[in-house]
Amino acid sequence: MSQDAFRLISPDGTESELPVHKGTTGPDVIDISRLYREQGVFTYDPGFMATGSCSSDITYIDGEEGVLMYRGYPVEQLAKHSSFIEVSYLLLHGDLPTAEQLEEFDQTIRRHTMLNEGMLKFFNGFRYDAHPMAILSAVVGSMSAYYHDSLDSSNPEERDIFAHRILAKLPTVAAAAYKLNIGQPFMYPQNDLNYTENLLHMLFAVPAEPYEMDEIAAEALDLLFILHADHEQNCSTSTVRMAGSSGANPYSAIAAGISALWGPAHGGANEAVLEMLQEIGHPKHIGKFVDKAKDRDDPFRLMGFGHRVYKNFDPRATIIREMAHKVLARLGRQDTPLFDLALELEQVALKDEYFIEKNLYPNVDFYSGIIYRALNIPTSMFTVMFALGRSVGWTAHWREMIADPTGRISRPRQLYTGPTQRDYVAVADR
Ligand code: SDX
Repeated sequence: MSQDAFRLISPDGTESELPVHKGTTGPDVIDISRLYREQGVFTYDPGFMATGSCSSDITYIDGEEGVLMYRGYPVEQLAKHSSFIEVSYLLLHGDLPTAEQLEEFDQTIRRHTMLNEGMLKFFNGFRYDAHPMAILSAVVGSMSAYYHDSLDSSNPEERDIFAHRILAKLPTVAAAAYKLNIGQPFMYPQNDLNYTENLLHMLFAVPAEPYEMDEIAAEALDLLFILHADHEQNCSTSTVRMAGSSGANPYSAIAAGISALWGPAHGGANEAVLEMLQEIGHPKHIGKFVDKAKDRDDPFRLMGFGHRVYKNFDPRATIIREMAHKVLARLGRQDTPLFDLALELEQVALKDEYFIEKNLYPNVDFYSGIIYRALNIPTSMFTVMFALGRSVGWTAHWREMIADPTGRISRPRQLYTGPTQRDYVAVADR
């Protein structure tokens, strides 16, 4: 038996040697691709708790150590020294850009921020109070109806054009959704503004008066986008890979990822955290909600706590918590009761046996909403902000998946528990 293999012996004695593949760091994987052929069985792992769906060079997470790296760079260093545009280049191309490459990439993104004018008509078809995530997924899916010159995923140049369009246009779509919700005119992108300044301008400027840029807000958003940019094979990224694996056009794959992110167990948690904090209302009610979260018969969960991978602190939550302090202080936000309530809730939960035993720590969504709120971004837009940051991660994974010469359509199997064969009975005899 080769040293890098697991031997499997079935109950009837049939032996299989299952090869082990080693990555550059992190757990090895057992290749089970011949298991069904040799043993007539499938593996079974609902929720894919211990299943590697692919190999990837993009992001590494160590849940026990609280490590997150993009292309080998620790997220703490990127948060401190980089920008979202530079991190986007890193995720898409694999290395940090030279000054010249960064300038060219930045200019390319700035020049792809406008939408086809025909797409703006879509917004008139939505109810004014449509959830912006519904608008974002619908409009992004419709991009394949407009941008026919970037649908051939076998063409590397068209893959680049698609990547630039998604990164550049999502903020424009997101801001237009917000303007629809508040009944204000849509603001066109300004190419002389950087990525987050442009988003703030499209969100909060009005034609009636000059807009005064809030640099603190622009910096805070840039950092939040860096921290949300990618996260290995999470639910929405796996959805993008799954949709793209059928050869569906990349805009449709990203639209599928947006829909998956919307769930409260995933990216929708940041919106749910604020709603939960507002429902708790005062530190004296924290105990009641923590008890609800611990009650197995109560579906309530403490939103913003727990993570499939991090059984230690989510490194992003640590950075965001520190940033929340700075943003609230620099913005002179005295109305920080929600932040103070969040800090108190965190302390109570972290000392509670249930949360300690189940390794439930604050995750990326626990504090981000506090900052969005301090920047006057409405709760309904919180998951949209998550999608704006994650769009580059989805795109990087789609590109990696589509460029893999060994790639094939994703098609899991199942354990069938339904009725065995039975014959049809005429309705008169039922
Ligand atoms: C994101 O995957 C990613 O990388 C996601 C993400 C990314 O960047 O893409 O990091 C972003 O989605 C962060 C997670 C945001 N979601 C929330 O904050 C929602 C609240 N958290 C949970 O619903 C839950 O913790 C999950 C969904 C995040 C993780 O769920 P798992 O891994 O499937 O774990 P589980 O549901 O099996 O929970 C294990 C135990 C259970 O108790 P038992 O059945 O063992 O008795 O812990 C309990 C759960 O009941 N538990 C919680 C809890 N989270 C888990 N109990 C109370 N409150 C919680 N928040």
